[in-house]
Amino acid sequence: MRKLHPNYGFNTLAVHAGTAPDPATGARSFPIYQTTSYVFDDADHAASLFNLQAPGFIYSRLTNPTVAALEEKLATLEGGRGGTVTSSGHAAETLALFPLMSPGMEVVVADKVYGGTINLMGKSYQKFGWKAVFANTDDPESFRKAVTEKTRAIFIENLANPGGIVADLEAIAKVANEAEVPLVVDNTLATPFLSQPLEWGADLVVHSTTKYLSGQGNAVGGVVIDSGKFPWLGNSKYPSLSTPSAEYNGLTFAETFGDLAYTMYSHAVSLRDLGCTQSPMNAWITLNGIETLPLRIERHCSNGLDVAKFLESHNKVEWVSHAGLESSPYYELGKKYMPDGTGSVFSFGVKGGYESGLKLLESVELFSHVANIGDTRSLILHPASTTHRQLTEEQRIAANAGPEVIRLSIGIECAEDLIKDLDQALNKL
Ligand SMILES: Cc1ncc(COP(=O)(O)O)c(C=O)c1O
Repeated sequence: MRKLHPNYGFNTLAVHAGTAPDPATGARSFPIYQTTSYVFDDADHAASLFNLQAPGFIYSRLTNPTVAALEEKLATLEGGRGGTVTSSGHAAETLALFPLMSPGMEVVVADKVYGGTINLMGKSYQKFGWKAVFANTDDPESFRKAVTEKTRAIFIENLANPGGIVADLEAIAKVANEAEVPLVVDNTLATPFLSQPLEWGADLVVHSTTKYLSGQGNAVGGVVIDSGKFPWLGNSKYPSLSTPSAEYNGLTFAETFGDLAYTMYSHAVSLRDLGCTQSPMNAWITLNGIETLPLRIERHCSNGLDVAKFLESHNKVEWVSHAGLESSPYYELGKKYMPDGTGSVFSFGVKGGYESGLKLLESVELFSHVANIGDTRSLILHPASTTHRQLTEEQRIAANAGPEVIRLSIGIECAEDLIKDLDQALNKL
């Protein structure tokens, strides 16, 4: 794992980064600033805050102390320069692209991503005049072919939902780098504990913090983290960052804020105007969740692999897609990019297709049938009838969500109990 800090390792930073004792009260556990607005010292102070000439809090749609602590913790854990926390993972995807895109421009999107992302980018973005061009996750050259003069970003998932798929980050980052566009990586399923995309040349990382980061299925949220390294200054493709902003007295974000330009823009313009802000309560839940992230992910990974191995040997199972299995085509990529484990979200094909899939859901007892992942509890889903329902059959198969596919998100219970539960349910088919 990359060295994130001169003195401290990942586990220490997961506990301490961003959450020093509260300066106002000395409270050791970081408090919930359940607050919307902050008093200005005088008119000059207010003016300097609004002109972005002084740092400080104005209004919680833009910044809030608890949310800022979460931004610092997550930026530190990903090895980024700055972070912008959002109301959901989907909001983070849109917020990530907002400073980069304009009507008529294109984003190249990996075909193996969360079904909701295919919908969001493939359909809803058309309403903004943004065009998504899909490329094959398994073929970095297909990204190169998809890039045009209008491309403003490449978007991929590191470990792709519904699981078991590992993207060749370094190769796709090289394509983005040569095309001089930022690579945006959704790192939700890997978490920074298993993989840090910025290390491999990505420019921006997004997360649905709803999953492993908050960790217990009780707070929806997202984040965008910027490496601070993309050369926005003087780059005519990105006028929001590289040309004077009339609304902020003609300042140019890339010039005035340097490696914090993207993050400053994300607060001062994107959050201000789109308003997809995270509540302080959810930020606080997520801050607490991250403190135990390393412990939980270790257990998630070992349980996940135990269950995957069991399924691979079961006669009611057609195939298992888990990058930790030697049979997986992603095994080598998994070893390279996630040497400590390839997560606990993965899929398998049940014999008997769609009907067997539905019957299995009804027969499990410990597993919960829900549309979420990354919870302490083990979860089960049939993507074709739920999360990937709105896609065409062709898109579903490309996204590894065909009729026989079952997605599991393995929790931190006893692996043997989970195996027993799946065994009894499979034997009912
Ligand atoms: C990989 C991935 N990215 C983004 C999202 C969207 O996140 P949210 O549900 O927090 O909006 C999800 C949701 O399942 C996801 O799995």
